Amino acid sequence: MKKIEDLKYMTQTWGCQMNERDTEMIQCMLEDMGMKEVDNVDEADLVVLITCCVREKAEHKVYARLGELSKIKRSKSDLIIAVGGCMTQQEEVGERIKKRFSGVDIIFGTHNIDRIPELIKRALLKKERVLEVWEKEKGIPEERNIYKKRKNFLKSKVIISYGCNNFCSYCIVPFVRGRERSRKPEAIISEIEYLAENGCVEVMLLGQNVNSYGKDFREQFDFSDLLRRVVEIKGIERIRFMTSHPKDFSNKLIKTIADFKKICNHIHLPVQAGSNKILKNMNRVYTQEEYLSLVSKIKTHIPGVSITTDIIVGFPGETREDFHQTLKVVKEVEFDNAYMFIYSPRQGTLAAEKYEDNIPLEEKKERLQELMELQNKISLKINKKLLGKNIEVLIDSVEEKDGKKVYSGRTETNKIVNIQGNDFGGELYGTFQNVEIISAQTWSLGGKLSGSG
Ligand code: SAH
Ligand code: SF4
Ligand code: F3S
Repeated sequence: MKKIEDLKYMTQTWGCQMNERDTEMIQCMLEDMGMKEVDNVDEADLVVLITCCVREKAEHKVYARLGELSKIKRSKSDLIIAVGGCMTQQEEVGERIKKRFSGVDIIFGTHNIDRIPELIKRALLKKERVLEVWEKEKGIPEERNIYKKRKNFLKSKVIISYGCNNFCSYCIVPFVRGRERSRKPEAIISEIEYLAENGCVEVMLLGQNVNSYGKDFREQFDFSDLLRRVVEIKGIERIRFMTSHPKDFSNKLIKTIADFKKICNHIHLPVQAGSNKILKNMNRVYTQEEYLSLVSKIKTHIPGVSITTDIIVGFPGETREDFHQTLKVVKEVEFDNAYMFIYSPRQGTLAAEKYEDNIPLEEKKERLQELMELQNKISLKINKKLLGKNIEVLIDSVEEKDGKKVYSGRTETNKIVNIQGNDFGGELYGTFQNVEIISAQTWSLGGKLSGSG
């Protein structure tokens, strides 16, 4: 039997940035145990899947992958398979996976990722199958020494709050991530100071609802106060955050974003739907009019701001007229980008219990198609306006192509810019560059370093 420190691991992750950050923490824990990361199952001794259950499709992908891995395990019996994340946080799903996939060795949830080293040891040394899911969150795991660790420091994700209290009627997240808990400002600040000392220039502050940060504190300290503290940290040049809920987007927050250059002019502001009837049934607690007036306030005070959104089509009872209200909002706001989804009933949520999923799939697909076509036109139109402009880009990606380095990066507004040419006489990764935009597509831009031929 191999020693733990000789094992090779790989991870596979579905879902949102919260899962990506959890994955990074798990990777750091495994590396602390001495393991090395590999990128394919052939070489791996341990595979960790971090799952998402926000829509049925996400779950299907995980089941398909578990099927493949089970097959592989038949001819590679030493392979350890661990499954965690939001899917397995639901007790019945964890049990189902355990029953259906006998090759799965470890099942854990979202509240006990710190337990992974222990669970691996048990599975490996005692040869037992371990299912450990904590039903309830246990405060904030502030003692995590892994908080500081990163696989890559340049752009770091920092969790500022866990869970969600909003209970949008369609959404499973509050059930699998628990109630909202804000981390203490001192803990967040000291983590970011450490990141900056280690080469981080951009932080992404993460929470299901960042702008309700601090509502669970006794003292008055909100998300804007936190942003103002982060701005002061030397070395941090860009501050991003997601996700913001329209109901908690205060004037103070708008002013804070406008006042500090370091706070990126990009706001992800899910609207979900345009019709007031649907918004009400979704429990979003704002009307179309309130959303539109918030957007116009944001645009007035933060010139050049980029606004992106999430939209669900085919919510129960959504008529053509309701759907047209969504299209109306999309046309009026002109989002830079949108993540668009077909409604997927999630067991245990209010919408799944109370409303019949009564829009035929064909109709849902047509609506999604129509919405996407509209949004794509708008994204392209907005991107084309940037042609000829000089924009600051943080070069955050480098790939080797035909022996040459190909770079890309992001603007303050979070647009991807692919840099043309590959002979710059020096390493660009991790630097800020002035880039002239020379081509515009729907989801990305092309540019050349300003001043280069
Ligand atoms: N806390 C974040 C992320 C939630 S999940 C937020 O509030 O925005 C990301 C997106 O998935 C949501 O914004 C919503 O558009 C979509 N979503 C959530 N539940 C869904 C469901 N049951 N069916 C379809 N889309 C869903
Ligand atoms: Fe889900 Fe709504 Fe919470 Fe977002 S705000 S995680 S959509 S319940
Ligand atoms: Fe999915 Fe969990 Fe995120 S359900 S969207 S991974 S919080």
